[in-house]
Amino acid sequence: MTRAISLHNVSKAYGRSGRAVDRFSLSIEPGEFLVLLGPSGCGKSTVLRMIAGLEEISEGDLLLDGEWANDMSPHDRGMAMVFQNFALYPTMTNRANIGFPLKLENPRQDNNERIESTARMLGIENVLDRYPRQLSGGERQRVAMGRAISRKPSAFLMDEPLSNLDAKLRNHLRAEISQLTAELGVTTVYVTHDQAEAMSLGHRVAVMRGGVLQQVSPPREVYALPENVFVAAFIGTPRINLLQAVVHAPLEGRMSIDLGRQRLPLPEPLSPDHQLLRIQQGRQIIVGLRSEAVRIAPPSQARPGEVPLSGIVEHVEYQGHEALVHLNTGSRPAVVPDLESARPDRSVPRRRRAAGGGVGVLERLKERAAGHISGPVVTLDEPGPDAWSPATRSPDRPVITASDLVVRTGPDMRLRTGGQVPLLVDLAHLYVFDHYGRRICPLPREVPGLDV
Ligand SMILES: Nc1ncnc2c1ncn2[C@@H]1O[C@H](COP(=O)(O)OP(=O)(O)O)[C@@H](O)[C@H]1O
Ligand SMILES: [Mg+2]
Repeated sequence: MTRAISLHNVSKAYGRSGRAVDRFSLSIEPGEFLVLLGPSGCGKSTVLRMIAGLEEISEGDLLLDGEWANDMSPHDRGMAMVFQNFALYPTMTNRANIGFPLKLENPRQDNNERIESTARMLGIENVLDRYPRQLSGGERQRVAMGRAISRKPSAFLMDEPLSNLDAKLRNHLRAEISQLTAELGVTTVYVTHDQAEAMSLGHRVAVMRGGVLQQVSPPREVYALPENVFVAAFIGTPRINLLQAVVHAPLEGRMSIDLGRQRLPLPEPLSPDHQLLRIQQGRQIIVGLRSEAVRIAPPSQARPGEVPLSGIVEHVEYQGHEALVHLNTGSRPAVVPDLESARPDRSVPRRRRAAGGGVGVLERLKERAAGHISGPVVTLDEPGPDAWSPATRSPDRPVITASDLVVRTGPDMRLRTGGQVPLLVDLAHLYVFDHYGRRICPLPREVPGLDV
């Protein structure tokens, strides 16, 4: 009853406006909870609607339990959809709303028992005889879910079902959805633009950008081993620090990563990850440092694998349990387009694509051949703000633009804006991406995790 859903090179073109979804391939196992994650406009709903049969597939194949299903009617697919705007019938009681799909199936059957057990599961048994307008947002969304599950669907398709709710309720319902789908064991495809929601719900997370699938992995792995700069930047708060850099690998002497004003020396003997960097000698790369990779502490406190750096405090953001310190280290941040909304290379002006590190026709072809990344993931030709120059430090410029590194500290650390602080960078947590934004280091490996 629960379905395996498989998409092979599925594309969707709406009219002549280019592909909203481009050669999307993914196999979802029976009973799996898969989250489709990406910025607004990247094609998530389109993928979901093609699975549901509400949108025609332009190219490629959809298989349900191994059977070709491109032309199967939505009804025969037996899937249930839950949307953001919980579309309940306003003139029916909640009981009738939940029972509606059952009634469609068999008009003469008495469904009360099924309706009540569904309502109990969702904790809404006491509102069954009211109308939707007499409910709170959270209750209405539960009724909508009740309607979706009452028929025991072969799969759940949920399109941002929680985004209209306030944060507290969202977290609450998130936990409930997780529990409910686990109990029912029904294959679920869940669409969201909220990375925290994706990470907490999914068995696997499929990250999309501009209609193109970037990576499908368990949450731990998309966080620890992002395949490219886009995935690294989309997942995790605060956002990963991404700095433009150059590998410095002299024939003799120590290898280092040049960040502009400062260098990160690589410890000898080189780790297998860092050995890979030798071939990047002299090339533009992108260094990624999550906030847990850097701490404020003097060189004397360095642990093995930590190297010193220093930064000027630009701004401190208190969060109660911690503080985010925005620092300037004299580096240039790498700009990752499409993080908020996604129309990638098609909207990047030609001039910009052709500049920077000499990305010529040949390079572009190579990049296209490299496959799954649609368009450059990163723009390296725009100089980031250089806060160390007097021009950018003038009082009429907001200082916040000058920070290139965000670090977490305890809430009690006293820091003076404009003061210099010593930093320690943990090289075991260093990410390096190539010119196209693809991860070079760390190498693929097992991501440790606790199974409890
Ligand atoms: N019915 C439609 N007609 C034309 N373009 C559409 C239609 N639906 C979606 N699109 C376009 O397809 C792209 C992907 O949309 P969508 O799948 O809704 O993205 P998401 O759900 O990730 O926000 C967007 O550029 C959107 O404007
Ligand atoms: Mg959508």
